[in-house]
Amino acid sequence: MKAVVVYESFWGTTAAVARAIADGIGEGTPVLTTDEAVGEVLAAADLLVVGAPIHAFSLPGEQGRQNLAAQASKAPAPPDLAHPSLRSWLAALPPLHARAAAFDTGFRWSPGSATGFILRVLKQQGLTPVGKGRRFLVTGSYGPARAGELEKARRWGEELAGMLP
Ligand SMILES: Cc1cc2nc3c(=O)[nH]c(=O)nc-3n(C[C@H](O)[C@H](O)[C@H](O)COP(=O)(O)O)c2cc1C
Repeated sequence: MKAVVVYESFWGTTAAVARAIADGIGEGTPVLTTDEAVGEVLAAADLLVVGAPIHAFSLPGEQGRQNLAAQASKAPAPPDLAHPSLRSWLAALPPLHARAAAFDTGFRWSPGSATGFILRVLKQQGLTPVGKGRRFLVTGSYGPARAGELEKARRWGEELAGMLP
């Protein structure tokens, strides 16, 4: 089974969750940014796990990313805007025949999700979701993950690996 984890992350929380999921799936599972997750590495995958932070109750948009840059002084560190948005990555995704899972990071109380949008596009592109989206909780508006969430992410990775032939 070849699995690939793809993520968008501005302050590193979603990246840390992505690495924990990949650890759970198995050693050597690639954890890729949107510019790395293209071409053969995607075409060869049996399972694509895709995640992003929740912004304004959904997957971050292009305008939101520009606002993050403009309001960077509010954040503890500058946002990482070096990679294309997950929205643009999803929009450019070729048809694929693999299973799919989605996760997001955010607050327990937050309505909406990023996973709803992600799973909708993945299904449109021919992927088969193995379950509902999973949320991993953060302590504040800029992360980090709440205590125990990275361990939950690792266990979810193990579950995902167990679902596959
Ligand atoms: C502009 C902005 C909007 C946000 N909106 C939401 C939201 O609607 N729901 C939520 O649960 N978290 C929201 N958050 C918190 C993010 O989910 C949190 O920053 C993110 O999980 C951190 O992930 P990252 O370090 O990978 O960027 C927001 C954060 C920012 C900066």
